[in-house]
Amino acid sequence: MSGRAGVVTRGALMMLKKASMGMFIAIVIGSMWLIMPPRAASIITAERIPNADSGHILLQAGGCFACHTDTDDYAGGLRLDSPFGDFYSPNITMNTTQGIGGWSLNDFALAVRQGISPEGTFYYPVMPFTAYQGMTDQDIADMWAALQQLPNSDQSNIAHDLPFPFNQRLLLKGWRLLFFKQDRVDPEQRGAYLAEHVLHCAECHTPRNRLGALIASKHFAGNDQLPDDNAAPDIRSHVLKDNGWVAADLKYLFAEGMLPNGDYVGGTMVEVTDYGTAALSSEDRALLADYLLGN
Ligand code: HEC
Ligand code: HEC
Repeated sequence: MSGRAGVVTRGALMMLKKASMGMFIAIVIGSMWLIMPPRAASIITAERIPNADSGHILLQAGGCFACHTDTDDYAGGLRLDSPFGDFYSPNITMNTTQGIGGWSLNDFALAVRQGISPEGTFYYPVMPFTAYQGMTDQDIADMWAALQQLPNSDQSNIAHDLPFPFNQRLLLKGWRLLFFKQDRVDPEQRGAYLAEHVLHCAECHTPRNRLGALIASKHFAGNDQLPDDNAAPDIRSHVLKDNGWVAADLKYLFAEGMLPNGDYVGGTMVEVTDYGTAALSSEDRALLADYLLGN
């Protein structure tokens, strides 16, 4: 990977030598701005009565706890290696200096669903906003209410360790244009809503292209290129059925983390079952199983 990044770096430097730096940046920003669709509104308009209990479940089920916790709960610092370099999750406790204590609900909604910070910069899609984009206003408000109840931590954030050009957040504008699709599943289709948005099963079970975007035509077809040598198997309904999975097996996996053969599931799927699906109600686990099997 470093070899390929080196080639990209040298190529980009040559270009910069030819055009003046300012001119080059102006052209990139200008052209991207022109072709950017208007930012999709993520503003929560109606008054909501937040339900913090539901929020705590969503924070677990959505993987927020698992990914934003290294030592202190939700204080970030967890290293996430990727083909683009090492990312570190930030502190999302209500600490006003190190965390997100100074944010509004709408700042939070914009970050989680649109991957845009209060300052208007873009987040890397390692934060799965591409899946959370379909979460309902109510669920966002519930998570926000739950975070208010948790202890805050003054743990400072660790800067990502990314080589050029991946350390250029501006490039994310182009990435979003190409790959950030806002397809929302109807929340009434609860199994689909949980799988596609809240629990984002596709983030690991769908293969990615070289720019790290999910290949839509291979939804759930498996990905053996995950960090730390994890391989997420093909979980398309016909494959699961061919392999003998029935709804009861899936419900058992989601509740206990155990496979039909009695082994515990391994790899990063452990986090999904222990923190994610185990936090759901048994009704929700059943709906998730039915959705996976296409029932
Ligand atoms: C796979 C790991 C992962 C998961 C799961 C995840 N996040 Fe993140 N999150 C990150 C990373 C990494 C960043 C920093 C992205 C960047 O710097 O561009 C981030 C950024 C954020 C930010 C912005 C913080 C700031 O200081 O600007 C918020 C808010 C946030 N996440 C909330 C959530 C919530 C809520 C959930 C669950 C619904 C969640 N995250 C799930 C990894 C994750
Ligand atoms: C963080 C990455 C990740 C996420 C998110 C994820 N999985 Fe997995 N999944 C894996 C990995 C890795 C394995 C293989 C585990 C092993 O080797 O034991 C796996 C295994 C499985 C299996 C067992 C399949 C088999 O044939 O043995 C099922 C079923 C499954 N996942 C369903 C899901 C569902 C449903 C979701 C969303 C609720 C989900 N996964 C989310 C990584 C993930």
